[in-house]
Amino acid sequence: MAPSREATLIAVFNQKGGIGKTTTATNLAVCLAAMGFRAGLIDLDTQGNATSSLGLVPAPAYGSHDLLFGRQPLAELFLPTVFPRLFVCGANDLLTTAEIRLSMQRNPHDVLRRRLARDRLGLDFLVIDCPPAFGMLPLNALAAARRAIMPVTAEPLAHHGAQKAWTNLRRVAGSLNPGLSRPDIVLTMSGATRQAGDVTATIQREFGVQVFDTEIPRDPAVIRASLADMPVCVYEPSAPAARASLRLAIEFLGRERERRDGFDPDRPRLDEGSGAMRLGWSDFDAVHEILRRWNARLRPPMAPEGGWPAAAAAALKARRARAPRPGERERGAEAPAYARLPRDWVSETT
Ligand SMILES: Nc1ncnc2c1ncn2[C@@H]1O[C@H](COP(=O)(O)OP(=O)(O)OP(=O)(O)O)[C@@H](O)[C@H]1O
Ligand SMILES: [Mg+2]
Repeated sequence: MAPSREATLIAVFNQKGGIGKTTTATNLAVCLAAMGFRAGLIDLDTQGNATSSLGLVPAPAYGSHDLLFGRQPLAELFLPTVFPRLFVCGANDLLTTAEIRLSMQRNPHDVLRRRLARDRLGLDFLVIDCPPAFGMLPLNALAAARRAIMPVTAEPLAHHGAQKAWTNLRRVAGSLNPGLSRPDIVLTMSGATRQAGDVTATIQREFGVQVFDTEIPRDPAVIRASLADMPVCVYEPSAPAARASLRLAIEFLGRERERRDGFDPDRPRLDEGSGAMRLGWSDFDAVHEILRRWNARLRPPMAPEGGWPAAAAAALKARRARAPRPGERERGAEAPAYARLPRDWVSETT
């Protein structure tokens, strides 16, 4: 039976380059999977950084190019990763031709939306990593998405770039996709300098409640993780940027609940119905523990040959044989985080 669940699509977009889009997208997807959600990541950037940072090296033969133009069932394009419940549609080589091919279509901005609407994956969330441009690929992501997350760095020129990206996002919502909610903004690579503090204050003043409380600090662990082809929240789960990424995922879920149920001043995150939206700040430790367990499972032995990438590749190979397709239940995997978590809402404890 075809899965009936429709994933919430989240486009991580800013036309500016090098500001933490891929880092935000991959860590959000991994944290959502650690929380117990079925998550997918679509890499729409020909650089393929999201694909490699989830351990898919080399890039898969079939991927997001085929998502746009191929005829395969979607479930064949979303490959299992080493992380339970997380699937990735990687940036394959042919994606470099996609901008041109798209521009020759009749409704070039609407190809991804139509393709995803035809075939359901049974996932809860689909995160799309956009390239640093405002071309046809990001336009397809934004035309299909219900949520947009816009990373912004706390540096002097960021404010101007953020205004431009915001305007573009609102244009898309106005003309192509009325279902796209107001973008959520996350401050990335934030630091303790006065200048950074000034920029942060300006962004918060201008974009108000759209700015997440959680900022992702500048942290060398992120670079160490990317060298190991791993998201930082698994590579060094206790690093400041990793902990912040998990807080961001929890804050995002809180907003999701508000968007679905209306604003609640007490901000309870309980959902008796699905259970899946129950996560709150008090669950930080339980989800963090799952990330630490994933770290322990993947960490290469001392003096490893090939280090993390080799250890992850071996784990992925072993996993491929028994990993389920998106929408299938995984046998033997740990119970989803939310199934074991306390049911009541407690204020932030971390
Ligand atoms: N919080 C952080 N602390 C330190 N370095 C970071 C942080 N976030 C990202 N980086 C580093 O900054 C670089 C750019 O990050 P990332 O690839 O996430 O940005 P991007 O916006 O996706 O870039 P592009 O526009 O090229 O796709 C990478 O080398 C990454 O490791
Ligand atoms: Mg990127």
